Amino acid sequence: MKAEDQVEVGIYPSSSSSSLSLTKWWSKETVAIVTGANKGIGFAVVKRLAELGLTVILTARDVERGEKAVDLLRRQGLLHVSFCQLDVSDSSSIRTFVLWFKNKFGVLDILVNNAAVSFNDIGENSVEYAEIVMKTNFYGAKLLTESLLPFFRLSPSKARILNISSRLGSLSNGTWESQGWPELWTDYAVSKLALNAYSRVLAKRYEKKGISVNYYCPGFTQTSMTRGQGTHSADDAAEVVARLVLLLPEELSTAKFYIGFNPFVKSKL
Ligand SMILES: NC(=O)c1ccc[n+]([C@@H]2O[C@H](COP(=O)([O-])OP(=O)(O)OC[C@H]3O[C@@H](n4cnc5c(N)ncnc54)[C@H](OP(=O)(O)O)[C@@H]3O)[C@@H](O)[C@H]2O)c1
Repeated sequence: MKAEDQVEVGIYPSSSSSSLSLTKWWSKETVAIVTGANKGIGFAVVKRLAELGLTVILTARDVERGEKAVDLLRRQGLLHVSFCQLDVSDSSSIRTFVLWFKNKFGVLDILVNNAAVSFNDIGENSVEYAEIVMKTNFYGAKLLTESLLPFFRLSPSKARILNISSRLGSLSNGTWESQGWPELWTDYAVSKLALNAYSRVLAKRYEKKGISVNYYCPGFTQTSMTRGQGTHSADDAAEVVARLVLLLPEELSTAKFYIGFNPFVKSKL
């Protein structure tokens, strides 16, 4: 058996693409949190989930940027979007956010760990900021998830965690062992490798406890992280994220690494 065969890798189920609104299990009582959501894929995910009728908490590390993003959505008629400051690299910010969430909502259905940083341009490989990259992309998602675990709603529709990751940190192809460390975005790749491994561990731990944990690489997407380059827009990636977190309970898997975009594209990140 090849190493790749041992990992649950999925392309998101495109067959369900036209049936999303017809097979709706959620309502405005369904609560989703998205991190790093003042711009890029995170912002687009909040917008899509709000359009589909969920209550969404848009979080951002910068209050002004976050409030501006929420205003933009409210002006589009998306009224069930709340804002709270959250810097995932700062444990006291996580504590404050969780307390706010507990008092204001108390119950969570969906968590999208999206916030991440990379300080490299495409083609560069500085590791000068490796510590903050790990702290944000891996430890931030982990600490926030663990702080929110007691609030997940245990219901037949299942709670869902989707970690926005990258195939640069793929556990499935074994190339790190045979070909050495990735030569592009090494710090970022290590942070996403850790996030992927953590997703699988967490998925296993909560398999029978009503929480599904999957991870997703959106492919080469036009955002500030790629300096606007990419094969598709943040809205396109967000559409896939929305479909993944809103899968019907009976279609919902756990510990799956979804990659790409529809049609399947190869990511450069
Ligand atoms: N774009 C791609 O091609 C691509 C490919 C594979 C995976 N991804 C993944 O997709 C996700 C979204 O990235 P993107 O492309 O949308 O990038 P982006 O436009 O740079 O957005 C990143 C978001 O994360 C926020 N953020 C950074 N550090 C944070 C912190 N400590 N606490 C809270 N928020 C923080 C940023 O806030 P500020 O505005 O304050 O900086 C921004 O809102 C990331 O997980 C990324 O690794 C992207």
